[in-house]
Amino acid sequence: MAAGLTIKKGSCARFRPPTLVESESIDSTVEMKKSVEFIQSMKQANQKIAMLTAYDCPTARVLNEAELDVILVGDSLGMVVLGFEDTRSVTMADMLHHTRAVARGNTECLLIADLPYRTYETPSDAVKNARMLRDAGADAVKPEGKKLESIKAIVADGIPVVGHVGLLPQTSETFRVHGRKPSEAVQIVDDAKALQAAGCFAVVLEGIPARLAKEITGVLRIPTIGIGAGAACDGQVLVLHDLIGFFDQFNPTFAKKYADLGRDLKRAVSHYRSEVKRGLFPDKEHTYN
Ligand code: KIV
Repeated sequence: MAAGLTIKKGSCARFRPPTLVESESIDSTVEMKKSVEFIQSMKQANQKIAMLTAYDCPTARVLNEAELDVILVGDSLGMVVLGFEDTRSVTMADMLHHTRAVARGNTECLLIADLPYRTYETPSDAVKNARMLRDAGADAVKPEGKKLESIKAIVADGIPVVGHVGLLPQTSETFRVHGRKPSEAVQIVDDAKALQAAGCFAVVLEGIPARLAKEITGVLRIPTIGIGAGAACDGQVLVLHDLIGFFDQFNPTFAKKYADLGRDLKRAVSHYRSEVKRGLFPDKEHTYN
């Protein structure tokens, strides 16, 4: 971004990349929400993009307070919140319900919502469903894989799209690292380039070797956001429940646990149960006179 750039409504004054001029006069009506352009400018400014999933309003509020850049209402919802075995059971109704909840708590992060399995098979379905997610509060949508005609149709409709290559949970047979074989690696690079050409403003790289993610990040103009794709990506995304230790069915190597809320919640509930059983709760402090 060049010096003297005007900060437009929808770009984010508080989170300007370092190349912006500090003396820039900022219109007080400027929204604080991070825009697609802002997220893209972070690549040029060499600033890492921090993205996490969220599925409800209080979590969205916390992610905003923690000054995250991007929230993804992922269809990982199906596994970590709804109790399904995979993401394929997630419906548009589920995604709309949770996107609305997250949007109510989101003020500053760019909000992306996943298009669930089989909701973007044709361009007309893709546009119809992307519009519904946008109306529910999403700033952008994310389909998986190389559905180029559907992606072009959504972009032409004015809705920003994030691509997703590598391991594609909606359609992959196994949850293994993709792109270790040279032929697979070439295919993933080509797919990422095709998504950029189709109009995606960023691309998620999931479950691929770090050196392949580095190559793609170097080749693409748009930001790459990695999950299990090493440190060279322009940004990182994790499923929140992995990060906070609130999902124990599955423990991928890349998912660093920053807290153990499952353990803390169990302790709190056991403590409550014990106090109720022993007649210690409610005490005077928690009783109306
Ligand atoms: O559904 C999801 O949470 C995702 C991330 C794994 C990128 O798509």
